[in-house]
Amino acid sequence: MKKHLLLVVMVIISMAMISCTQSSTTLEETTTLNTTVDYTSMTTLTSTLMTSSEVLTESDFIETLLSQMTMQQKAAQMLQAERAAITPEQVQDLGIGSILSGGGSHPNAYDDDTDTWYQMVYDYQAAALSSTAGIPILYGIDAVHGNNNLYGATIFPHNIGLGMANDADLVYDISKATAEEMLTTGITWTFAPALSVVQDVRWGRTYEGYSENPEIHEHLTQSAILGFEENGVSATAKHFFGDGGTTDGIDQGNTMGTESDLRALFLAPYYDAIEAGVDTIMVSYNSINGIKMHGFGYWVSDVLKDEMGFEGFVVSDWNGIHQLSGDYKNQIVSAINAGVDMLMEPYDFATAIDLIVEAVNDQLIPIARIDDAVGRILKVKYEQGLFDHPYVRLSDSYLYNQDHKDLARQAVRESLVLLKNENNSLPLAKDGSIFLTGPGADNIGYMCGGWTTYWQGNTSADIGVGESIKDSFTRILSASGESLATSWESADTVVVVLSELPYSEGVGDNTNMTLTGGNASPENAAALQVAQSAKAADKNVVGILISGRPLLLENYLDSFDSFVAAWLPGSEGGDGISDVLFGDYDFTGTLSYTWPASYGQIGITSVDFAYDPDLTMFPYGYGLRYS
Ligand code: BGC
Ligand code: BGC
Repeated sequence: MKKHLLLVVMVIISMAMISCTQSSTTLEETTTLNTTVDYTSMTTLTSTLMTSSEVLTESDFIETLLSQMTMQQKAAQMLQAERAAITPEQVQDLGIGSILSGGGSHPNAYDDDTDTWYQMVYDYQAAALSSTAGIPILYGIDAVHGNNNLYGATIFPHNIGLGMANDADLVYDISKATAEEMLTTGITWTFAPALSVVQDVRWGRTYEGYSENPEIHEHLTQSAILGFEENGVSATAKHFFGDGGTTDGIDQGNTMGTESDLRALFLAPYYDAIEAGVDTIMVSYNSINGIKMHGFGYWVSDVLKDEMGFEGFVVSDWNGIHQLSGDYKNQIVSAINAGVDMLMEPYDFATAIDLIVEAVNDQLIPIARIDDAVGRILKVKYEQGLFDHPYVRLSDSYLYNQDHKDLARQAVRESLVLLKNENNSLPLAKDGSIFLTGPGADNIGYMCGGWTTYWQGNTSADIGVGESIKDSFTRILSASGESLATSWESADTVVVVLSELPYSEGVGDNTNMTLTGGNASPENAAALQVAQSAKAADKNVVGILISGRPLLLENYLDSFDSFVAAWLPGSEGGDGISDVLFGDYDFTGTLSYTWPASYGQIGITSVDFAYDPDLTMFPYGYGLRYS
């Protein structure tokens, strides 16, 4: 990341002690910031370095710091704790390197405002700066489709929709907007983008990946990363590697293949990520040919670091090292020796710090490995500018502002894929006689999917931002004095919005892939009956599917004149869908995932030799337009 790039546009809040080498700072919102820590009197390693009259280069700074750190201080830099499990006092005491908010881990409540978030980050930062080392923390969060843990943030389409749009500029702008919304809370590290090249849509994380085909990843990856890193936020390429290739799409499962196949399919986007200068890479839960990635030194050290030249740091996944064999100490030793630099140990961080020190004393981990790991972590912190400006924040004018709403709405328009359009059933007339039904018709939470407000998503119809499809249709019709019909019988056109229910990770793993089974809304069945009845009565029947992946449409497609895959469009789904359905814009999205026709075809994708587009329901690359 380019140091200081953002400072011109950012509100910088720096403290006197840390900023002695800086010009005077703007202290904004000091009234909201109460910290019990008296850091003005602290003498820390970093404060000594920062006030020394010598001007140090980056590498001198890091080397000098490293040479003065104790083993305990180094080990602590290698740990990341979950916020719910650590207090500022512990941060000060341990000098921990990083803190995260897991999915839905809010400071107090789901609807905390940006001041509350920032106060929390500030308190941890103040505590870290007043530890004996005085090294700032990096605060990380899963901002995977907007700053999605923050109530009131713009929710962008999940990556599956962005893969359908396949628009690199759009992806850059979304990362930038997400970075801005993160910075309203002072958080500077996102666990995104996922670079999962997904081969089996039964996987619950399918929607986190752009595509089944590496070519789309290669088109989008650099933009996704630069949009964050050119705008003040460190990105994470994840999950390294092969997460999308597990047998039968089982989350955290085993990915099998020859080395050259695995490289071509799953390693490809990581070359782009490294070229873009990605600051961090997260190791995947999955195994490669039976060996857990968290302990796989060949891939993490030899390939990723030595061969591919990754210079940032590698972070483990949530409790990921616990899946390695042996006792906890063995697990820590295996992961660090394999090349993991920072351990995401939400709860066991304090024990882990002690065990690292112990393992070094026992000569189980070479000190050079520790210095390499800590050096990489300090480098990212340094290049982010944290040593000079540990407190950064943007004002609330960046939160869910008109630009971000417009951008999200554009993303929805571009991500929609028109699968079927017969009898001129689309576009809809703005003064038409329309009946709207189905579980997705009036539910913004469903449109957002998992990783929204909470880890498993927000199942409320109203998530505090956005407009539902129903709200949007109602507004459009009312402009011509119309309103939605109250029964399908009384309408000319029947629009049926089918939906999956929100899920994330393994909770979304699914063997029943029909419109009425698995993670699908139980209300889909009744909605499909309306479609069938309306079709039999010769109505114009339009289907919209809100889902994290293609589902088996079976014969249901016959009940629709037209059918639109809307993926997980996010908070602006209502308006974005209306823009295209009412004909103000044309469809441009094309399938970045094959749409299977049957169970037997799930897992056969456009990268396979056995792939036959004629046997699919809709092949990779498919998508209709009006024109
Ligand atoms: C997920 C990661 C995520 C991490 C932190 C893990 O369970 O696999 O994608 O970044 O949790 O929430
Ligand atoms: C956390 C997520 C994490 C998941 C892993 C949840 O409790 O909130 O961030 O990814 O656990 O299983």
